[in-house]
Amino acid sequence: MQVQADIKSEIVNYVSEKKAFVDEKAVELLKSRENFREIIDGLLEEGIFFINSEAVEKKLIKTKLDGLETKKVSVKDKGFKPIAKEYNEKIRVISKYDVTGQSKSEGKTENFLHYFQRKFELLSQILKRRQGISPRPISRVKLVPKGNKVDVIGMVLRKWITKKGHVALELEDLESKCIALLIKNDVDTKGIAERVLVDSVIAVKAVKWNDDLIIIKEVFWPDLTVRQAKHVDTNFTIASTSDFHIGSRFFLEKECNNFINWINGREGGEKERKKVGRIKYLVITGDNVDGVGIYPNQINELTIKDIYKQYEEFSRLIEQIPDYIEIVICPGQHDAVRWADPQPAIPKEFLPELNKRENIHFVGSPGWIEIETLKIMMYHGGALHDLIGSVGYLNSKHPEQAMIEVLKKRDIMSTYGMKQPYVPEKEDFLVVKEEPDLVYIGDMHHNAYGSYRGTTVINSGTWQARTDYQVKLGHVPTPGIVPIYEMKTGKISENYFVEKKGLKEID
Ligand SMILES: [Fe+2]
Repeated sequence: MQVQADIKSEIVNYVSEKKAFVDEKAVELLKSRENFREIIDGLLEEGIFFINSEAVEKKLIKTKLDGLETKKVSVKDKGFKPIAKEYNEKIRVISKYDVTGQSKSEGKTENFLHYFQRKFELLSQILKRRQGISPRPISRVKLVPKGNKVDVIGMVLRKWITKKGHVALELEDLESKCIALLIKNDVDTKGIAERVLVDSVIAVKAVKWNDDLIIIKEVFWPDLTVRQAKHVDTNFTIASTSDFHIGSRFFLEKECNNFINWINGREGGEKERKKVGRIKYLVITGDNVDGVGIYPNQINELTIKDIYKQYEEFSRLIEQIPDYIEIVICPGQHDAVRWADPQPAIPKEFLPELNKRENIHFVGSPGWIEIETLKIMMYHGGALHDLIGSVGYLNSKHPEQAMIEVLKKRDIMSTYGMKQPYVPEKEDFLVVKEEPDLVYIGDMHHNAYGSYRGTTVINSGTWQARTDYQVKLGHVPTPGIVPIYEMKTGKISENYFVEKKGLKEID
C-alpha cells in the first residue's frame, strides 16, 4: 500500500512541477504504468494541461496502437522464410456442431423439456453402442423376474444417501422412472457416486430388487472408444493461446508483443525461426477481451473501458500475425456474446477488420473445426468450474482432467442450475457428438495438457497476470506460455514469453 501511495504522490508531484493538473481517476490509471512520465509529457505536448482519466485513456490507446504499428516489420525484410507460407491450408469449420446462427431457444418450459429429451436421446444412442450392456427401457423392468439381471439407461433426476449409507439414484428415460441403489461396500460406491451428477446420462448393469428398485452392479458412461491418437503426415504445427483479456490492467502487453515478434520470425536463432516457420494454424480459445461489467467493480481494473475499443486493440494485435497462418477464434465469458453456453461466435460488428481476412475463422464455444483431417473441439471452459466444484478429485490446476471427465460423459453440461448458465437450444450443442482428436480449452489461465483414449487436451494459458481475485482464491495462473502441437508426432512444446523456465514436452 505504501508503494502505491508513493507512486500516486510521485505522479501528482511530477504534474505539479510541469504546472499542470491531474485528477484522482487519472492518477489511478497512471499508477500502474511504469512510463507514466512519458504519458504525461505526451499529453502536455498535445496542449492538455488538465489531465483527466478520459485524456489518459485516449493517450494509452493511441500509444499502444502507435507502438504496435511501429513494430510492424515485414517478414520478408528480416529474411524469415517460413515454409508454412508456401503451404495451402487444410482447415474447415464444422458448423453443424456450432450454435452460431442456429440459436432457436426462447427460454420456454417446452424448450427445456425438448433440450433434456434430446440430450437423453443423443447420449443413450452412444451408450447403446457400448459393448457389454443390453439396455432395455425402464418400463420393462417390471417384466423381469425378481433377482434377475437387468440393464437400463437413464438420466439422473436425483441423488441422495440413504439412512443405511447406500447411494440412491432416481433414473428416468423417455417413458418411466426407477430407483437404482449403489450398495455400500458392494461396488465402488463413493467413487461412482462422486462422478454421477444430477442430469448425467448413464447405463447401469443391475439386479432387480422389485418393480421400482434395482441394485447397481456396474455403471457405464457414454465415453470415448479406446483408440490410438491420430497423427498426420505433415511437418506443420498448431500453436494455441487464450485469454488475452485486452483492456484489463493485468494484460501483459510486453510479453504479448514478444509473442507477436516471435511468431513473425523476429526472435531467436535459425533453429527457433525454423520452428516458428512451421506454424500453420493458431487456435485461440476465448476471453479475447476483458469485457465491461463482467464482475462487480471491474471498471476499476480496466485500462480500456469501452468494449469496442477493447476489440479494436485485440484486432490490431491479431492483424500483426502473418496472414499465412490460419487463425480460429472462439468466445469466452468475457467476450461480447451471451454468457450462457453454448456461446455463439463473436459478432462481426466488434471485429470488422478481422472478419475481412480469409485466414481468420470465428466459431462458437463449443466450436468444431477440422485441421489436416484432425477433428478439433474448442471450448472456453465455463462449465468446467461446476464440474470441478462437484467432483472431489478435480481441481482448477488441472483443467485437462475436468475436460477428460467431460469426454467420459460426452457432455459439456454439468448439472443444470449451478453457476454456469445454459440455454436450452433445440439441438444439443453441448453433447460431444464425435470423438475429437484434439480439444482446446482456456478459462483457467493455466497451461495444462492431457490425453485420454486417443484424444489430446490442451489448455493454452493466458496473457493476463495474476489478478487480485485470483490472489484471493489462491489460484496461480501461468501467463505468457504458448504451446505448439506437432501433428506428426503428437508432441507438445511450450514457448515462454515470460521468464523462461525450460522447455517441457509431453507425449
Ligand atoms: Fe479468462
